[in-house]
Amino acid sequence: IAVDIYPTAKDGSRAVAQEIAALIKERQAANKQVVLGLATGSTPKYLYAELVRLHKEEGLSFKNVLTFNLDEYYPIEPDALQSYNRFMKEQLFNHIDIPAGNYFVPDGTLPKEKVKEYAAEYERRIEAAGGIDLQILGIGTNGHIGFNEPGSTLNSHTRLVTLDHNTRQANAFEFANMSQVPRLAITMGLSTIFKAKRIVLLAWGTHKAKIVRRSVEGHSSDQVPASLLQQHPDCKFVIDEQAAEELT
Ligand code: F6R
Repeated sequence: IAVDIYPTAKDGSRAVAQEIAALIKERQAANKQVVLGLATGSTPKYLYAELVRLHKEEGLSFKNVLTFNLDEYYPIEPDALQSYNRFMKEQLFNHIDIPAGNYFVPDGTLPKEKVKEYAAEYERRIEAAGGIDLQILGIGTNGHIGFNEPGSTLNSHTRLVTLDHNTRQANAFEFANMSQVPRLAITMGLSTIFKAKRIVLLAWGTHKAKIVRRSVEGHSSDQVPASLLQQHPDCKFVIDEQAAEELT
């Protein structure tokens, strides 16, 4: 796996925003769409802020962009404070010119018996769009990508999953207390993520240093889902100096 190390999270985020902008413009010139896979959480916030800035100050248009988000809590209302649907609107979609029908975030409101069919439809939509050109990922301290927790298999599809205790703890700060953190989530599977033509995983801060090392330098195992990315033909990690601290 290629690893690009930047002095700060902002520097790394700016570089990735430039890559995304270049891809969008290249497709615009050819009158084609571009399909992005997007993540939520604290990691991509600077990236989205920079994309918004490129739109507002430099005229970058997202009219030819289609996006699919990795995951959403289940169950959750889209306007709940912790909802990833809400997060994406607040951080990105409300501030750019992406057409309203062009972005997809898994729906956390469906009755349980409908989730399976919905998840299959989510996969079909991605395929009908031509597949994901560039997938943005963050990484959990347990190595999860999307909400594919340790033990998820490489052939997993979009589905309902149980969140690890560790993941619920890491995200508890967004909720009133631990008991409020949903126990389930809908996530793209590892096979969904692996079908992306290009993958860029972002990680910032010392708390990610150990898992970055394990993912990049450790052996590729489903016990650390991010380490499976070693098997993807076009994946790189973009990290800051703090997250690089443990690399040899
Ligand atoms: C979010 C997602 C998760 C996060 C990961 C890191 O859509 O897919 O895998 O990327 O939990 O979260 P942060 O960025 O908050 O450290």
